[in-house]
Amino acid sequence: MSTQAVNTSKTIPVASGAQTEGGHYLEFINTPLAFMRRVFEECGEVGQFDMGGLPTVLMIGPEAHEAFFRAPDDQLSASEAYQMMVPVFGEGVQYGAEPHIERQQLKIQYQGLKHDKMSSYAGVVAQEVIDFTKDWGDEGEMDFYEAFTDLTLRTSTHCLLGSVFRYRLTDEFADLYRDLENGIDPSALLDPNQQKETFKKRDIARERLQELITEEIHRRRDAEAKGEEPLDDMLNIYMTAEYEDGRKLTEHEITGLVIWFMFAGHHTSSNTSAWTLVEIARHPQYHAELVGEIDKLFDGGQELSFNALREIPLLEGFIREALRLHPPLNAISRRVMKPFQFKDYLIEPGCNVMLCPWVAHKLPEYFPNPETFDPKRPAPDNVFAAIPFGGGRRKCVGNAFALLQVKAIFCELLRNFEFELTMPAEDYQEIMPALILRPSDPCTLRYKRRKGV
Ligand code: HEM
Repeated sequence: MSTQAVNTSKTIPVASGAQTEGGHYLEFINTPLAFMRRVFEECGEVGQFDMGGLPTVLMIGPEAHEAFFRAPDDQLSASEAYQMMVPVFGEGVQYGAEPHIERQQLKIQYQGLKHDKMSSYAGVVAQEVIDFTKDWGDEGEMDFYEAFTDLTLRTSTHCLLGSVFRYRLTDEFADLYRDLENGIDPSALLDPNQQKETFKKRDIARERLQELITEEIHRRRDAEAKGEEPLDDMLNIYMTAEYEDGRKLTEHEITGLVIWFMFAGHHTSSNTSAWTLVEIARHPQYHAELVGEIDKLFDGGQELSFNALREIPLLEGFIREALRLHPPLNAISRRVMKPFQFKDYLIEPGCNVMLCPWVAHKLPEYFPNPETFDPKRPAPDNVFAAIPFGGGRRKCVGNAFALLQVKAIFCELLRNFEFELTMPAEDYQEIMPALILRPSDPCTLRYKRRKGV
């Protein structure tokens, strides 16, 4: 290791089991969750390991989270830690952009998530669920990891790129998106630009996606020139947005912003939906209450509205617990750029610091009986105890949209169907093959249309 994490008064405990070649890299890649739990059990709140030559300090617990999230970007840098995303989003976009440009891009992203936009998204998501389930028949079995991956790709594309693009969502678009996803594997952590078939395909896919988005931009400009009203979606926001110096976004940047938002919101939301459904099926004792809560929303036959989505505490409890026990993102990272002091530990520039919600969300001081799934569990008093959406200055900007989307999906699903497990409850396991926690294969559940619906 070239850089050591040293401190003034206390030595940071180091995890056992480093290999001469690569340190703990292989164990981290092969069994990331068990590995991080082991580091915490051995080392406590602060523990160091060797990520293939990069000294990495795992920090667990609300005080450590708070220090991490409150540190400024020039001390703990997200961009430097997430360079593997740059070839996917593109140079000049988010982690590949200058900090002042990234900040303005984030502001532009935020415009698509304002209250007035969100209220229209609830209906879009509900309609997608109705279309998605229309051929299900009265009963059947389905892999719900796959189903939610598909459904949330449709909902994200619909909200982000509008209905025209969504309904022209061809196999080509899905294939390109898959090639981009396959371009993020754990080896990208060490070198995102290595000569590798999947990385070459990733770069080709990005270029082609830019062509498709550019075509859509030109189609819209032509339509507007003929007097058509502009569409009310994210792509329109990107097309009309300006940086502080008056410059418009290039097509390269717009493509990058689309991919960035799709990546940030797609699997995180689809896996949260899959876990929520597994947990609903695992806990039939709550079914009557849950269905009662949902049916009340639709009393009088009205459509799902944004406001109605605020009044479903038990469903919210299920989603919150799914996010506590199965948080999708578990390697929240920063590169230390300036010495970073936490309690008695001084972490030196050149190291990475990392948070792992999956480990932190099981601390019994904040979550009594942590392994128990309890949809009525009160939220902990300390706001830095539960961090499925991160925290501080880089807290997830899609938090509210993600919750709206998952709630809208479940309102429509539970309004019409009941769900049961098809395997013993413990066979639905957690895996993290591409740095996002998801249910193991197969994730099959049985559905039955509710009587009288
Ligand atoms: C950031 C989780 C859905 C957009 C984050 C972070 C987490 C997270 C943990 C912080 C990462 C860090 O600090 O390094 C989740 C989960 C979601 C979800 C669990 C779903 C259940 C979404 C959606 C969108 C989105 C739907 C977009 C519509 C973003 C963006 C950031 C972010 C743009 C970066 C913010 C920044 O760098 O300042 N998300 N997210 N997320 N998320 Fe989400």
